Amino acid sequence: MLTDYSLKMPKNIHAGEHALEQLEEILSDDIQKIVIFTDKGLLKLGLVDVPIKIIEEKGINYTILSDIPAEPNYHQAQTMIDEFKKEKADFIIAVGGGSVMDVAKLASILATDEYTVKDLLENPLLAKKQVTSLMIPSTAGTGAEATPNAIVGVPEKDLKIGIVNSEMIADFVLLDGRMTKDLPKPIAASTGVDALCHAIECFTSAKANPISNTFALEALDLIMNNIIEACTNPDALDAKRKMLLGSFYAGIAITASGTTAVHALSYPLGGKYHIAHGVSNAILLTPVMKFNEPVIKDLLAVAYDRVVKDGDKELSVDKKSTYMINQLEIIVKVLEIPTSLKTFNVPEEDLDGLVAAGMEVTRLLVNNKREVTPEDARNIYLQIM
Ligand SMILES: NC(=O)c1ccc[n+]([C@@H]2O[C@H](COP(=O)([O-])OP(=O)(O)OC[C@H]3O[C@@H](n4cnc5c(N)ncnc54)[C@H](O)[C@@H]3O)[C@@H](O)[C@H]2O)c1
Ligand SMILES: [Zn+2]
Repeated sequence: MLTDYSLKMPKNIHAGEHALEQLEEILSDDIQKIVIFTDKGLLKLGLVDVPIKIIEEKGINYTILSDIPAEPNYHQAQTMIDEFKKEKADFIIAVGGGSVMDVAKLASILATDEYTVKDLLENPLLAKKQVTSLMIPSTAGTGAEATPNAIVGVPEKDLKIGIVNSEMIADFVLLDGRMTKDLPKPIAASTGVDALCHAIECFTSAKANPISNTFALEALDLIMNNIIEACTNPDALDAKRKMLLGSFYAGIAITASGTTAVHALSYPLGGKYHIAHGVSNAILLTPVMKFNEPVIKDLLAVAYDRVVKDGDKELSVDKKSTYMINQLEIIVKVLEIPTSLKTFNVPEEDLDGLVAAGMEVTRLLVNNKREVTPEDARNIYLQIM
């Protein structure tokens, strides 16, 4: 475990049944222009209606930018930011999943012509916060509302790359259960498993520490005990609210520690085949946990004691650890998320390229407690081919 550690997080967080209404108090009279980042689907679903109503009642000028594709590459993110710059906004609201929030976070530090997203891919720390930002997540989720990260596709590398700069951390976060109430099951499932991965990876990360463990364990408890109910029962509002909180906590855990080989090996699957982020993590979750098991058993046993409400505390570490990995596998299966790359017609001859691209994600591979050699990465990818 790390001996020195710290945490940066959003300054103002409102959660609960009426968190959206807090916007009224947050929007001060000196705000001249708001840009709302969202996507077309969410606009159509009316998920931006409450914020728009509050902004209009306050008489503040606003523009909606909704041309954000799911999982944008850096060119697409830059196009949106160029649009944003024309608006000369002094307040950003993001309503959406990780794709929308990540673009909005980049915009909050790229409001002038000084730097581009491409510059940040080379040196993420160049830019400073320029515009106040408020995040309203609509998936539960990436936890992007909590993190200093923005993930963009880099087509020329067939990879997704995380830009990490604490200046991107949101100033305000509103966690409102209404946002995820009608999430379609496949999206709820894959984004929920993404949050699950954040929690279990951060708890077993080489960068884990007392602060990140506090959030990762609580996130794991909330997510493992609510994900199936939240994804399969449209009326399970309490479970959905707990997922939203769990994914936020898991985002804080990412900020305080870091994800590991599940996310590292998943980036080429998103970058090259455009497999949704949550799905590619779900595919890798069990194989990577089994690979890591010899060195994380004790931690999985601690997680068992916390998460399994009717568990037997007297069980051996081996049994607790096996139980936890089985549960992760069961969650992915019950939620009917693909467990193999066969679903995406990935040819076996791509294996070498996948291994090479996965091994490039050293930012996250160094967090994996068991060293991942190219041979190990190849074996893991082979298992999911
Ligand atoms: N910044 C971070 O810390 C971080 C962490 C993990 C992942 N990510 C990134 O976030 C992106 C993925 O975000 P995501 O998983 O939230 O999905 P997403 O934002 O890509 O959204 C997926 C789809 O779900 C739809 N959707 C979202 N909310 C909905 C709702 N409430 N009802 C109906 N439809 C809804 C969207 O319109 C979109 O079509 C990826 O690019 C990933 O790499 C970022
Ligand atoms: Zn993730």
